[in-house]
Amino acid sequence: MKKIAIIFHSAHGHTEFIARQVQQGAREVEGIEAELVRAEDLRRTPEALLDHDAYILGSPTYLGGVSGPFKSFMDATGGLWAGQRLRGRLAAGFTVSSLPAGDKQSTLLSMFVFAMQHGLVWVGNPILPEQHRGVPYDEAANRLGSWSGLMAQAGHASAPDAFVPGDLKTARLFGRHVAQSLQRWHGPERVEIDRLGSESAAPVAEAAS
Ligand SMILES: Cc1cc2nc3c(=O)[nH]c(=O)nc-3n(C[C@H](O)[C@H](O)[C@H](O)COP(=O)(O)O)c2cc1C
Repeated sequence: MKKIAIIFHSAHGHTEFIARQVQQGAREVEGIEAELVRAEDLRRTPEALLDHDAYILGSPTYLGGVSGPFKSFMDATGGLWAGQRLRGRLAAGFTVSSLPAGDKQSTLLSMFVFAMQHGLVWVGNPILPEQHRGVPYDEAANRLGSWSGLMAQAGHASAPDAFVPGDLKTARLFGRHVAQSLQRWHGPERVEIDRLGSESAAPVAEAAS
């Protein structure tokens, strides 16, 4: 069994609702376990990341970036970064915001840079926007046209589940895509870092399963 952690922060429930759709999509794939993990909890126990083969990062967009609690989780991984202990696992990202654009792209980019610093391998969202094929806009997969990661939008002060069907569909397809990518992935490379920061890579598969 290969394991995905869907790591999210959600103050008002929208990001959590999308995280659950992503989880549902990932669970459609045989041999994949997908667990929801709150960023606030992982901040205290970042070593728990080592139990997973892939990470799907989810944050609301706050002022064009990840939320404070999500950033605190990211910053808590500094020790893992120093030893490059996550290197070669998979990562992907999603964000939710209230405006159609809302600067969601820069939230995804900060997740991408985080993943690159850890030596993770980024998985995108390769879904063609279905409105190009005549599907009504609100029902279309990837209607917001985001390939670097998943974007979803729920109106200002709306209910946590106030997403159009297209965004829910995109979230499930995205979860499935990450899970399928993991299924094909041979596993991370183990790296040894010495006291002076020099590294040697051992070609040893270190999958969590
Ligand atoms: C401090 C703050 C900053 C926000 N900044 C943005 C923003 O830059 N762009 C945007 O579209 N929405 C912005 N929003 C709206 C949230 O992204 C939106 O309400 C989101 O659905 C919240 O997710 P949650 O319900 O999971 O907490 C902001 C909300 C807050 C509270």
